Amino acid sequence: MKHIALTTLALGVVAALDAQIPLGPTIEAGNTDSEWDLNVLPNPNDTGRFIFDNVASFLQHWPNARYRNGHSLVPAVVPQGTILYHGRGDGTFPSTPEWLATDPEHANIFCLGKVETGCWQLTVAAVRPLNVLYFDGSGAAKMPDGAMDTQDLVAWGEIRPEKYIDEIGRIEDLCKWARKHNVDGLMRMEMDFEIMFCDFHNGLEIVSFLQLHTFDFEPPILPGGPQLMRHVFDGSLHYSHVAGSWHNRAPGDTRFQLDLTRMLTFYDTDLIPSLVVQRAGKHRWQHRLHGISSKDVAIALDRLGGMFDLQPSLHSSVDWTTLFRVLVERYAGRLEHIRDLLLETEYDSSRTNQTAHRVQNVLTSMLRHYAVFDAIPSGEGLAWVTPVFELCARTHTKYISSLELSYSERILLSSFETTNKEICRVVTTMWANGVHAGLDEIIPVSPKATPDALRAVVRGWEESVIRLMAWLDWSVWVRCEPACDLEEFCYMPEWPWLYKGDEDEGVRNRPQPKCIRRYVD
Ligand SMILES: *[C@@H]1O[C@H](CO)[C@@H](O)[C@H](O)[C@H]1NC(C)=O
Ligand SMILES: *[C@@H]1O[C@H](CO)[C@@H](O)[C@H](O)[C@H]1NC(C)=O
Repeated sequence: MKHIALTTLALGVVAALDAQIPLGPTIEAGNTDSEWDLNVLPNPNDTGRFIFDNVASFLQHWPNARYRNGHSLVPAVVPQGTILYHGRGDGTFPSTPEWLATDPEHANIFCLGKVETGCWQLTVAAVRPLNVLYFDGSGAAKMPDGAMDTQDLVAWGEIRPEKYIDEIGRIEDLCKWARKHNVDGLMRMEMDFEIMFCDFHNGLEIVSFLQLHTFDFEPPILPGGPQLMRHVFDGSLHYSHVAGSWHNRAPGDTRFQLDLTRMLTFYDTDLIPSLVVQRAGKHRWQHRLHGISSKDVAIALDRLGGMFDLQPSLHSSVDWTTLFRVLVERYAGRLEHIRDLLLETEYDSSRTNQTAHRVQNVLTSMLRHYAVFDAIPSGEGLAWVTPVFELCARTHTKYISSLELSYSERILLSSFETTNKEICRVVTTMWANGVHAGLDEIIPVSPKATPDALRAVVRGWEESVIRLMAWLDWSVWVRCEPACDLEEFCYMPEWPWLYKGDEDEGVRNRPQPKCIRRYVD
């Protein structure tokens, strides 16, 4: 029951955020006087937090099943010796572009034939580093409403929703682009990761080509996710889905090495200004590339080609993936813990004092190392806390920002800074309000807050932390709650395994995890 209550309470604030109703002060961002003003909210059009979450989620199954509409394209290398799998109905070695899976459980779905003749599974090894282009999101979800947009642009230079099921046309045209730029394949995700590989005679060596047992299988009626789903779930849970879940969380599928010094993101508002107005007032669920101007498409494709054709630009050797992960690890668990402490106390005001002290302790753990000796409450307001805010917001990137960075790295830096700064703004304000209320163990303040004032602090914290978590919208916070039983599997509805009820528009367009049974009795 607890979790239902927490969610219900959180929803009011999230709904307000959805509709972009500002909560609290609403001073416009942008002028330098206000740079370290704790009351300045981020501009709702700013996409830094989306870029941050995309980058922090690359190659991970869970977040990319949740937000299917990819916005990023990143060059990647598949190292020499990596094993890849291809399932098919005959024993002919592919002479045209075909699909390779990273996990055999995924390839095995395509190992189809008759019980009498069996099917074939080809296993290959990369004989050299393979160059691929990674599309984030669920690019292999054959759906017309955004999941395939980035591929459409590369294949056809425009969004072609009517071609969402034209897998042959798509792979042929993507490979035409790939050949021009010396790219071996294009990588994307559905229930697991796969590569659309352009030439099986170039870069691969056969490890085995096996004739396997199969069962008579009615091919799914596409795009009938539900038909295929029923076939699968009326048996037991399909292992192609389970295999994808092995890459659910960081570090994701490490068989691909991304080069983040070269990345194209359609959340780049300088490069792709035409999408700003398309996104205005919409929730992230609805973000896609539809409505992009042809001028912006040309610029994006030019930059994408240049990423492969031109000499690499100057760049740093910063490990961006780790930098982003550090921020998520530092804050994800503690913000969630604070929210849960506060929401639980809603029902029991006798515990307000205890909760307030506990929350202040967590806040202090986040900021103690920035709480310089001179920062002590003085006079009205929170001006005294500015040095803490600034240290919190700048420490991770002060040095990096002095380096020579590639264009893509500057986008990464800016998205990190935007995200980090908003976390620091909120957390510093919460902490300072706790200090003012006399809750801090080290910084004495008198008189201490009255019970009413304390309740007001606690209510303010609750609103702040819920708002911050909704703004960040990290997939690490999206789980099956309560946790699933042993006989269950925590499942994020995704194409084509849409489960009973998932055909419903609301569920289909805003996937939420749920426990499903592993076995049908
Ligand atoms: C956000 O973008 C929309 C569309 O371009 C614009 O109308 C609006 O004024 C922008 N909002 C802010 C706060 O900049
Ligand atoms: C509030 O909690 C703190 C720490 O748990 C405790 O020291 C203090 O006595 C409590 N105050 C009241 C009024 O209960």
